[in-house]
Amino acid sequence: MAGVVVVGSQWGDEGKGKITDYLSQKADVIARYQGGNNAGHTIEFNGQKFALRLIPSGIFSGNEVILGNGMVINPKAFLEEVEYLQSAGIATDKIKVSDRAHVILPYHLEIDELQEKRRGANNIGTTKKGIGPTYVDKYERLGLRIGEFIDEELFKERLKEILEVKKASFPEIESDFQSIFDEYKEYAKKIKPLVTDTALILDDYLQDGKNVLFEGAQGAMLDIDYGTYPFVTSSHPGANGVAEGSGIGPLYLTDAIGIVKAYTTRVGSGAFPTEIEGELADQIREVGHEYGTVTKRPRRIGWFDAVVVNQSRRMSSLTGISLMLLDVLSGIETLKICTAYTLDGEVIHALPSTIKQLNKVKPVYEEMPGWSEDITKVKSFDELPVNCQNYIRRIEELVKCPVTIFSVGPDREQTIVLKEVF
Ligand code: IMP
Repeated sequence: MAGVVVVGSQWGDEGKGKITDYLSQKADVIARYQGGNNAGHTIEFNGQKFALRLIPSGIFSGNEVILGNGMVINPKAFLEEVEYLQSAGIATDKIKVSDRAHVILPYHLEIDELQEKRRGANNIGTTKKGIGPTYVDKYERLGLRIGEFIDEELFKERLKEILEVKKASFPEIESDFQSIFDEYKEYAKKIKPLVTDTALILDDYLQDGKNVLFEGAQGAMLDIDYGTYPFVTSSHPGANGVAEGSGIGPLYLTDAIGIVKAYTTRVGSGAFPTEIEGELADQIREVGHEYGTVTKRPRRIGWFDAVVVNQSRRMSSLTGISLMLLDVLSGIETLKICTAYTLDGEVIHALPSTIKQLNKVKPVYEEMPGWSEDITKVKSFDELPVNCQNYIRRIEELVKCPVTIFSVGPDREQTIVLKEVF
C-alpha cells in the first residue's frame, strides 16, 4: 500500500503539477483534498501545455481522479474545465466528485470581491474565486454541499434559505435566487453522475494495496493555521490537510513530498522575508516565467528561505524534497540562502505568529558560489556542476530532509528522480 502526497512547501506555484503528473503515471488513483479553482497547475508534455485549476493534474494519466470532500467546487468552472480537457482529446470519464465537497455559488464571488474592497490597503490579494467565503459558510454550517446540490428539490430549498441569511449580512449581494437556481440546476444535472462518497473509493484502493496519490494545491505558507496569517488561503494545503479533506486518516500516508523552488516566490500581499527587487529579481522572473497561472500577476521573487521550508517539512512530515527550477539559477555569481531570521536582535528559526513580527524579521544569509553552466540537459546528480551539488546538499542539511527529485526545465524529461516513492 502506498499513500503519497505532493505538497507545495513555500507560497504555492512551486511546480506541483509537473511532479504530480510524473507520479500519477504510477498511481492508480489521484485525489485533491483542499482548495478550489484558486489553484493553477501547469503541465507540459509532448510539446503541449495545459493549465488546470480544479481537476487534479493526474487526469492526464488516464487513471481515476477524485475531487475530495475538503474542496470547494465552482460547478461552472468545473464543467468548463471538463470541456477544455475533452476538446484537447483528454478522457474525463474517470472523474469522481465528493458528495461532501462544498459548492461555490455566485454570491461567494461577490462576497470575496466585497471583502477585499472593505479591507482596503490591507487586502489579502485573494484570487477572487470565492474560496474564503465558501469555507466560511462551511464552518458557519451555512454551506451547500455537492450531495445537496444534485438533489434539485433540496438545492432549491437550501439555496433559498442560505441566500436569505447571506443577503441579511451582505445587502450588496446582487445575485438572486431564481437566476442562480435556473442556471445552476443545469450544472447540477451534468455533475450528478460523477458524485459519490469518494472516501470509500480511496479506502478500497488502499486496502487493495494500490498506489494512491494526493495532490495539494497552493503551498504550506498559505496554510490557514501555520501560514502567514491572515495573508493565507482558507484551507490546509500541506499533508496536514489530507485526512481532513479526503476522508481517510493520516496513517495511510507513506510518503510526503514537498515541492520547493530553488528560490522563493509569492503572489499577493503579505510578508516575504527574503524578497529581492531590481535587476536580479527581474532576471529570475523572466527566466522562470514567474507570472500567475490564474491571475497572470507577476510573482514576487526572493532567495531560498530554509526557515520557510523547514516549517513546511515539520507541518507535512516531509519525507523528500523535490527541488524545482534549479536551471533558473544558472549564471548567478553568488547565491544566498536564508538560514534563520533575527527578530529584535534575537536569532529565530521559525516563523513568528503575527504579521507585525514577521514584517520585522531580517533574514540571516549564507552565501554560496553559483554556477554558470547550462544544466537543462543534465540527467543525474553527478552531472551537475559541483557548486550546484553543494547548493542542494546545503539545502538538505538546513531543512533536514533529502532532495529526492530535482528539476532542470519544464519538460517531463527534465525531472531527475533520485528516489522513487511508488
Ligand atoms: P484565496 O485562496 O483566493 O482566498 O487567496 C488567498 C491568498 O492565497 C492570496 O494571497 C492568493 O494570492 C494566494 N493563493 C491562492 N491560491 C494560490 C495558488 O494556487 N498559488 C499561489 N498563491 C495562491
